[in-house]
Amino acid sequence: MKILFVSPEGLPYSKTGGLADVVQALPKALVEMGHEVAVLLPRYRENQIRSTLIASVTVALGDRLRFPAIGEGQAVEGVRYFFVDDPAFFDRAQLYGDQKGDYPDNAERFAEFSRAAIELVKRVWMPDVIHCHDWQSALVPVLLRTQHADDPAVQALPVVLTIHNLGYQGLFPQTDLRRIGLPDRMFTMDSLEFYGKVNFLKGGLIYADYLTTVSRRYAKEIQTPEYGCGLEGVIRNRGERLVGILNGVDYAVWSPEKDTLIAQPYSAKDLSGKKICKKDLLAAFGLREEDLERPLVGIVSRFADQKGFDLIAEISDELMKEDVAIVALGTGQPEYEKLFQKLGEKYSGRVGVKIGYDNGLAHKIEAGADLFLMPSRYEPCGLNQIYSLRYGTVPVVRATGGLDDTIENYNLRTQQGTGFKFQEYDGESLLECIRAALKTYHEPKAWRALQAHGMARDFSWRSSAKEYAVLYKMAKQARIQRTAKSSK
Ligand code: ADP
Ligand code: GLC
Repeated sequence: MKILFVSPEGLPYSKTGGLADVVQALPKALVEMGHEVAVLLPRYRENQIRSTLIASVTVALGDRLRFPAIGEGQAVEGVRYFFVDDPAFFDRAQLYGDQKGDYPDNAERFAEFSRAAIELVKRVWMPDVIHCHDWQSALVPVLLRTQHADDPAVQALPVVLTIHNLGYQGLFPQTDLRRIGLPDRMFTMDSLEFYGKVNFLKGGLIYADYLTTVSRRYAKEIQTPEYGCGLEGVIRNRGERLVGILNGVDYAVWSPEKDTLIAQPYSAKDLSGKKICKKDLLAAFGLREEDLERPLVGIVSRFADQKGFDLIAEISDELMKEDVAIVALGTGQPEYEKLFQKLGEKYSGRVGVKIGYDNGLAHKIEAGADLFLMPSRYEPCGLNQIYSLRYGTVPVVRATGGLDDTIENYNLRTQQGTGFKFQEYDGESLLECIRAALKTYHEPKAWRALQAHGMARDFSWRSSAKEYAVLYKMAKQARIQRTAKSSK
């Protein structure tokens, strides 16, 4: 099959979060299965185009025309990369916004991106299926099934939309509808309207042939008011077309045997390198190297409400009464950056903090920490806890979404399990959970068994990529039937 990914970010070209890891690893896994895969991304500041395929595509945004180019980048591991190139829109310091917040023209930026995707398939590379990711490409199915509904070139082209995070929907004022070239009649409850605003993701949820999200548990959760972010009704309506497929891991990038970014490689058979990594990590954060035996908790995260750091704020002083050290790497909402900076000052020597984005350091934390903390309020899948398992770094997580699906709670009696989970979203439960983990840390035999269980788990992409391949076929079938029906 020929599959086109349309995504606002993807490694090795751009990344703000786990979506970029997925958009790198899944295409690679599909290519290994024999499929032909291309990825369309916006050309951001740091990206290079190798050849221009279309010098100027005419995109109508309301009564204005824009003329992005479509280029091709260096292919990577058998995957082709196309870019929508419009410097005024995408050659910026960040992907989606700056210190002041989201870029005010995001609706137009990603409407243009989605419209250009349709030009790409019509003029350069016609796939069997388009796979869109998150709100930034959710207009692709909307446009195909409305403005392009009578276009024979794309009528039978199916679209799968993956929800990586329902917390980000692409919400814009009603006036933006015209600015992106959509008619007022689409501002209705059964189309793009959402509590008086335009909602890109909602459009995608309604018009895509199939919907997926990144874990089974999250697929169930988003059909409830607690996790549905107001879209639970829309999602429930499409329940028969919604599938939860767990993200995988690219173990060529994330495993302690092969990792070139860590101080010393190691494996489940011989963990001695992990100690060297811990020493290196303590040094990187300016923590005392003599404290090698003290349990070290690692955090690598976007600092967003989703990630549960308000719980850390609540329990930090109680937590620091324990014999524990913390290293945290992250960037995002100022209140959480401040929180960690303050903790770093108050407990200097035991809490190390780096505000920023640093891939090398993220690898060092996975390798050098003893525990990895993810107390998320919600978590569609979560990748770091899965990486942690492979590094023998025991995850402490809240039992939600993909965290719940990937981590088995340690049972002291049977000594089975891979990590520590807590249910209720409150500080007390988190504290209790960390205490249980610390207690086990001090029982070296149990701890080594726990590490070994986690390291033996296999979350490689193979099985999930197969599930996607099946779904692409189903989407194609469904679209063929639909098209046949509507032409009768
Ligand atoms: P999300 O996509 O919600 O941010 P995931 O756990 O799916 O969460 O993926 C996060 C990805 O981003 C991981 O690969 C993680 O290592 C990386 N990451 C997050 N914050 C940072 C940071 N400050 N520096 C380096 N890598 C980071
Ligand atoms: C989102 C989610 C995260 C998920 C990632 C990749 O950013 O927050 O849980 O792992 O997408 O699917």
